[in-house]
Order: sequence, then C-alpha cells, then structure tokens
Amino acid sequence: MIRFMNLAVTESERDSLIQVILQVFNHGIFINGPELTEFESKIAKFHNRKYANGVCSGSGALLYALRALEIGMGDEVITTSLSWIATANAIASSGATPIFADVDSDLNINIESIEKLITHKTKAILPVHYAGRVCKIDEVLKLAKENNLKVLEDASQAIGASKNGILAGSFGDVSAFSLNPMKVLGALGEAGVVLSDNKEIKERIDILRYNGTINKESCIAVSLNGRMDTLQASILLERLRTFTNIIEKRREIAYYYHKHLEDVVKTPLENEGEKNSWYSYTIMGEDRDYLQKYLLEHGIETKIQHPILMPEQIAYKGSKCIIDNAQKIVKQILCIPANEKITKNEQDYIIERIRRFYGK
Ligand SMILES: Cc1ncc(COP(=O)(O)O)c(C=O)c1O
Repeated sequence: MIRFMNLAVTESERDSLIQVILQVFNHGIFINGPELTEFESKIAKFHNRKYANGVCSGSGALLYALRALEIGMGDEVITTSLSWIATANAIASSGATPIFADVDSDLNINIESIEKLITHKTKAILPVHYAGRVCKIDEVLKLAKENNLKVLEDASQAIGASKNGILAGSFGDVSAFSLNPMKVLGALGEAGVVLSDNKEIKERIDILRYNGTINKESCIAVSLNGRMDTLQASILLERLRTFTNIIEKRREIAYYYHKHLEDVVKTPLENEGEKNSWYSYTIMGEDRDYLQKYLLEHGIETKIQHPILMPEQIAYKGSKCIIDNAQKIVKQILCIPANEKITKNEQDYIIERIRRFYGK
C-alpha cells in the first residue's frame, strides 16, 4: 500500500532529535524553556516579523490571534468555505460569527464574494493559504484597507510558501500557523505559532496562553492554558534548519506529477512570482469518488482535504455564505501522495494508475 503520508521519524533524523530532547531532559524546564524562546525568535526572523508566540496548536493560534485583535461577540469574520473546520471553530470560539466566502479554482478565497459579504459588523478577513498556495493576498489586503478591517492569515498549510518573495504569514496584521506533525514544519505532537509586528498583540497572547494571567496570579482575561511545550519547541527548532529542503523535494514531486498528469486532470502549479509549500498535492477531476476507490483498490491511499465545506457542517448550518463554486469544487478535489518520502517508482505507479483510470 502506498500510504498518503508516513509520519514515522526517519533513521537519518532520529539521532539529532534524540540529542535535542535529551537537552530538555537535562535542564528540566518543560514549559517556557530556552528552546521555546529561541524557536520564537528564529521563526519570527525567518518570516521577517517582529514577534512570535509559540502556542499549543494551530487552533489555539487562531483563537488567541482573534482575541488579541479584540474580536468577539457581535463581530463578523469573513473566511473561506474550504478549510479544515478549525478555522471556523476558532472564529466561533472567540464569540464572533464566521461568514463563509466562495473559492476560486485555485482553491483559495474568492475576492468578489468577500466584497459582497462585508457588513457594518465585519471586523476581519481570515483567508487560508490553502494546500500550501498563497491566496490572492494583495487583493485581500486592499479590501481590508478600504473597509478598515483586520487581516488574520491562516498560514497553517503554507509555512514556507511565498508570493513575490514575501512568505505566507508575513502579510496580514497577524498570522497563525499549525505546526502539528502533518505540517511541512511539524512537531511530534500538537503545536502552533502566532506571528505579528505588534508588541501589544504579542503581550496579549502571552497572557491569553497562560489562563489570562500576568505572572500566573493576577487574571485579567478569561482564557485557557495553551503554551507550546519546550520539548516540541526543541524539535521544531531542529527541523527549522532543514525544512526548506523538504519543500524543494515536494516541489520536484509536484512538477513531475504536473508533467505527467496535466492532460488528464487539473493539476496545481505555481503562478508567476509564487512558491508553494506543497503541503498537499490536490488534483481535480471528474468521477473523483470512483477514482479514489479505484486507486485504493490498486494500493494507493488518497485523501479529500476537506470533504465537507465548513458552512455545510452540521455545526454551521444556516451560516451566511456564498459557496456556488465551492460546492462544485469540493466534489472534484483529491489529494494524492506527494510527500517527500514517496519514491520515484511509487510516483510512476500512481501516475500510471490515474492515467489508466481516465483511459490514457
Ligand atoms: C487551515 C488549517 N487551519 C487550522 C488548523 C488547525 O491546526 P491544529 O491541528 O494544529 O490545531 C489546521 C490543521 O490541520 C489547518 O489545516
């Protein structure tokens, strides 16, 4: 079986990770240890941002970022309809109402639909850089400026992706990343980070991620603990040194797929000035469900990221949304194995099977 993803730590990485874990064992500062501070400083610098807050997860990162922007009850936040449900849940958990915009064929948020959804209650736009591709961020920023809105980027799937040399997560007022094990830069458990250039936002998140307290005793905001473990920070710090190599390897895989599949399915490719992080390789084709079944019967595991549009989830039924295009697209998308661990032979086999399915 060709697995969609294999998260086992490779032999070549094992020793270096054990070393960094042992360092944490030795100093014993498992929360707020020196590795966390160093990771925050390096990840901020990598993104040309002033501040980073390491937190418990991408979901936590989004929620803390929204709260630090003082978004809550009575406010509306416009996001995409195609993302993992964490994006909507973070908005709703802040007390605000998620409003769902349509997507374009690049699977990213559609600008015209955002424009139509803006009301006097709208406080922010929360675009997701979906599947590792930077969204039409210039237009999002322009719209936000014209309407006096904040921009919170959900860059969970796009760490290392860029547009015209600027990295995902470096455009908006604040950005949130998931660093869970599936991500291109991943910890060995739950982790996330918030980036910003605003000291007040950074300091508010320091408080929010520690039960709303200052120095543990004085509670000034209702919140729950959500700091990043020192152990996870130590792993991320080590992986940060080489994660751009992973993107390069994934780019090679993506271009090879494109070359051999573009005549049978819609394949993603980088536009001028774009560098994707290739979090997932999402093809679009007719008879998607049959294709997925056929590939599984032939030993190829695939995934649909994400099979249910957020406004169509039971928890969000009745939400305000524009999803005409998204409803068509969500029936066609399929992620095929494209992580750095798949071999050339495996890739050739996947290509051959997809071509055969479409009679080529
Ligand atoms: C777009 C997006 N947003 C948010 C999240 C939530 O991140 P986490 O799983 O770290 O809470 C994810 C995680 O998969 C994601 O893909």
